[in-house]
Amino acid sequence: MIQIRAVVLLLLPILWLAASHAEDLGSPNFNDEFSKQESIYRSEGQQVIEGYTVDRALLTYAHGLSSGFDRALASLGPADRWLDIGAGQGQAILDYYAPSYDRMHFAGRDRRGAKAQAVAISIEDRRTPLWQQTAATLGVNQIQYLSGRRLREYSLKELGRFQVITDVMGGFSYTDNLSRFMETALGLLELNGSLFTVLQDVHREDGTNSPFYPGSPFLTEIVNADGSELKVCSWLKRITCAEVTCEGKSWEPPTEAFRIRKVCNDVTVPPLGLVHYQAGTPPERRFELKH
Ligand SMILES: C[S@@+](CC[C@H](N)C(=O)[O-])C[C@H]1O[C@@H](n2cnc3c(N)ncnc32)[C@H](O)[C@@H]1O
Repeated sequence: MIQIRAVVLLLLPILWLAASHAEDLGSPNFNDEFSKQESIYRSEGQQVIEGYTVDRALLTYAHGLSSGFDRALASLGPADRWLDIGAGQGQAILDYYAPSYDRMHFAGRDRRGAKAQAVAISIEDRRTPLWQQTAATLGVNQIQYLSGRRLREYSLKELGRFQVITDVMGGFSYTDNLSRFMETALGLLELNGSLFTVLQDVHREDGTNSPFYPGSPFLTEIVNADGSELKVCSWLKRITCAEVTCEGKSWEPPTEAFRIRKVCNDVTVPPLGLVHYQAGTPPERRFELKH
């Protein structure tokens, strides 16, 4: 599957190289793959790459993320904020603002009143007419869509803090710098706030699953300096000031959902270096624990 995907990508025009990869340009081996990855982000209309899904509904987020997500979002009040990293078209945020959301989440409605402010981040601008219409009917900046940059290129001052952060097949699945991504995301979380994210085709905490495509590695792998495996869940559990739960989900390919709750401010993320990156939806990545 990954090989087929790679062939398709080779046929695509390389649209442009992201300047934001400047820090990686010293790694010539990765440049071709980064270029192919850029062409996936920039694919539009008929050319959107098969498998690059940009319109998942909020209901799909709730099924794919850890079990506490639906409740955490429904509990947000008007003074709270939700960040969706790698939002695609921002459909999940539009669903949160749809009247049907309140009908399905009656319990928290009083507390919610006017809803939390929601911010969508995407590398490419995938806003739809529905996004524009919805934004126009809501208060200024009630929903915001930021594009043109990766998460790591935003500062805390620019974005502020959030009670809930989601990432469904967004930056966490696509980044070439997993530890920096996590540092940035946790830096944007309020104390006791939660980051909900997910990876597909990853070796789960209980070790019961094998790579989905026979003969291929897991899509995201981490190894220790001696080459031994470090599961993503175990790596996340080494982050200080973070309470982590890992939950297997029966999506196809199977996924693992992660909830990372920030319990104190002194967050340190064990640093990782990139050792393998093959463009895709999502890309195939291997990282090595530094030190
Ligand atoms: C496959 S789409 C997923 C969209 C949406 N979450 C959904 O499920 O429909 C991937 C999204 O992640 C974004 N993305 C990838 N890497 C990112 C990064 N490092 N920072 C911010 N967004 C990123 C892409 O621009 C795109 O919006």
